[in-house]
Amino acid sequence: MQEVSQELLQSFRAPAYPGSLFLSFEGIEGAGKSSQLKRTTEYLEEKGYRVLVLREPGGTTFGERLRKAILETNKELHPLAEAHLFASARAQLLYEVVMKELEKGGTAIICDRYIDSSLAYQGIGRNLGFNAILQMHSLFPLNLVPHLTFYFRIDLETSYARQKMRNAPKDYFESQGGEFYKKLIAGYDKAAEIFPNRIKTIDGNRDMETVFSDVRSLLDQLIHSINTNSGQA
Ligand code: TYD
Repeated sequence: MQEVSQELLQSFRAPAYPGSLFLSFEGIEGAGKSSQLKRTTEYLEEKGYRVLVLREPGGTTFGERLRKAILETNKELHPLAEAHLFASARAQLLYEVVMKELEKGGTAIICDRYIDSSLAYQGIGRNLGFNAILQMHSLFPLNLVPHLTFYFRIDLETSYARQKMRNAPKDYFESQGGEFYKKLIAGYDKAAEIFPNRIKTIDGNRDMETVFSDVRSLLDQLIHSINTNSGQA
């Protein structure tokens, strides 16, 4: 894999809206994102947060249109076309929803997929490379990254077993073969390596409650550090 530009990495920062949380959930198919999203929403609501879950691509009228355009295409898209469409939907989501909502203190935004999906799927899965994706996100507001990203890491075997259980129809990406999934795992691992503070890798092969106890303790740590820092400011 190519060397990641340190200069590009410097472009990224978490938004500074006191009292609000910005989170994202990542993983390949069958990683358990949906169950963890549900448990996390309940937990944060119990803690008094107003929780908004946004799916990517989507979350705005424009984004939902792009979602349809990408996931329902019956023609192979050029990887750059794909990457720009995802980035475009993301920029609109940040502008129309994320920034406005985070500004209201006490909000927790949870993105079901975010920039790391583009790094894994388009950067490695589609061979564009990390630098191309980072470059594409280096300008405001795309350079805003979550306080914490939960990467639910599962093996290929777990993914296949869970897909079989679900037996759901496959979208554009899901119909790619095993080699593609292997690249996605490598892509996510690499993303976690270049963003070690933001991305927390959680072993998603375990049962849902055990996985959630890891999520909960990371959330508690984050909330504690945010409250402590804003108390000092
Ligand atoms: P979705 O049905 O939301 O998948 P899942 O339930 O697995 O989250 O479809 C989103 C698909 O788009 C998924 O296969 C991953 C892909 N994707 C990218 O390739 N790049 C991106 O930047 C994003 C956000 C998603």
